[in-house]
Amino acid sequence: MCGIFGYVGTQDPLKICMTGLEQLEYRGYDSSGIAGVFEGTMVSCKKAGKLSNLKQELRKLPSKSFDLIIGHTRWATHGIVNDQNAHPHLDLRGEIAIVHNGIIENCHFLREQLRKEGVSFSSQTDTEVIVQWISKFYTGDLIAAVQKTIPLLKGIYAIAVIHKDHPHQIIAAARECPLAIGTDDQKTESYLSSDPNAFGKSGLNVLFLRDDEVAKIEKGTIEVFNTGQDLIIKKVERFESEYLAPSKEGFEHYLLKEIYEQPSTILKAIWGRFHEETAQVEFENFHLTKENLQKIQQIRILGCGTSAHAGLIAANYFEEMAKIPASCEIASEARYQTPLFTPHTLVIAISQSGETADTIAALREAKAAGCKTLGICNVKHSTLTRETDSCIYLKAGPEISVCSTKALTSQIAVLSLLALHIALCRGKDAASARAFFQELKKVPSHIQKVIDSSAELEKLALKYASFNDFFFMGRRHMYITCMEAALKLKEISYVNANGYPAGELKHGAIALINPRFPVVAFCANLQTKDKILSNLMEVKARGAPILAFAPEGMDEVANIADDVFWLPPTIDELAPFTSTVAGQFLAYFIAKIRGCDIDQPRNLAKSVTVE
Ligand code: F6R
Repeated sequence: MCGIFGYVGTQDPLKICMTGLEQLEYRGYDSSGIAGVFEGTMVSCKKAGKLSNLKQELRKLPSKSFDLIIGHTRWATHGIVNDQNAHPHLDLRGEIAIVHNGIIENCHFLREQLRKEGVSFSSQTDTEVIVQWISKFYTGDLIAAVQKTIPLLKGIYAIAVIHKDHPHQIIAAARECPLAIGTDDQKTESYLSSDPNAFGKSGLNVLFLRDDEVAKIEKGTIEVFNTGQDLIIKKVERFESEYLAPSKEGFEHYLLKEIYEQPSTILKAIWGRFHEETAQVEFENFHLTKENLQKIQQIRILGCGTSAHAGLIAANYFEEMAKIPASCEIASEARYQTPLFTPHTLVIAISQSGETADTIAALREAKAAGCKTLGICNVKHSTLTRETDSCIYLKAGPEISVCSTKALTSQIAVLSLLALHIALCRGKDAASARAFFQELKKVPSHIQKVIDSSAELEKLALKYASFNDFFFMGRRHMYITCMEAALKLKEISYVNANGYPAGELKHGAIALINPRFPVVAFCANLQTKDKILSNLMEVKARGAPILAFAPEGMDEVANIADDVFWLPPTIDELAPFTSTVAGQFLAYFIAKIRGCDIDQPRNLAKSVTVE
């Protein structure tokens, strides 16, 4: 994954770079580092662990005013997490430095070739291989050395390279990994970053590199060359950053803050998008016409992790409301399938970050097959927003905690409106559309009620936090909801939790049930009420402690479960909202009791930009 950053300009490069790296830490927090040119020498500083460790390390350096700088936050792919494997990596002479996001698949081959020529390596990374090849080709012209190196690389990358003898020049190149370069109007400074939102400055003119393009970046000027080494004119976008310095606003963790934000983020996702008088849905910059939507024969949804869960819920919406065959595929699988697209397949790619490599790759496959594409995304200017025919924004504001919460509920809200829109275009009656929206409008206040009773969930967490294995079970909409709740628990509490369709347990997995294996039962799908009650009896008979999340009024649950958390009742389609929030709280409190790193769980990154 990793985030890369670079700066050359009139401000203090180190200060700008450290602010940029703070914004990029969501892409990896295994280690971080910087390298810059100072009085004709290359100075580098890097440290394993979070950015705060690098900040401590930088204090040991005599204060320096660099000519330019590159920086990195790492999510380890090749090589364990330690100081040596942290970026930047330098060539043997310590004259060239590189930062890299991506994976070089033929790095072992390339490394061995250099080893035979006597080159020794000080890290286990694929990145060091790139800089040693650049060094081999360097004869005074840095861009030429980079241009000679990149055809050797198999895999994906975004790189930034500097040389001590070129103190005013950063060379950047990218293939399939995002890389934004921005300059100001006065032409006094240039920035590069994996994410333009990390520039920390508005009003820049920004371009994105791709397809092995190479850029020569100097103060306020950028020249871009294609693989034929011709100078090319790139499309430049005006970038008005909506950047706000992240703040926990008094909450102990970003995760808790983001859980609490959900009544307002859901409201933002639906506000102004359904006109009750005319019973019409309207999304900004939505280019699919009524005619397009009438012709759709199937919907294929792509996503990973929590976004895939939103997609699974939405597939039900499209089938039930709009009567269109719909499926959701895990993007890492979808990209290697050969689906039978019809001429009127709509492909919907869901991603909070808009940068998830598998989702983008699967989307590109669908585009190549001629499908119409639609993105559902939270981050403006991200790759997904640029590569889909239309994109609906969640408007949920930055999601900082690695574990996704508010993005999911906004995704479901937006997707329910999209299903309603398509259904209306295909003849759904206005009265039932209005009735659905009336229920949807109540969701923020239902969630507020869950938030107001979260102290009960904290008590339940105390009771259940010592267990190491959980089943989460549910039916229909609650099946997907319980998979999401299990993912939250795994992700932030490091507890084994499986989301299971309640009816499927008896086909094998029930063998695991015992008094040390609690079941969290999601009961809010009223259509299958009697069935889930029977499933509860089955696990109770085998001694499992049962915690149920059930809608008020389903009193029978209290006679079976050991504990019940009551939820505001709603229609089945919208029950995922409140049950999801209850699951988020449970995971949060258990993680807190177990002393886990809630906002930055081990081994993870917010944005998964490698396959
Ligand atoms: C789970 C989580 C991940 C992401 C997944 C996709 O809490 O955050 O499972 O949902 O990595 O990320 P996006 O939505 O950015 O494509």
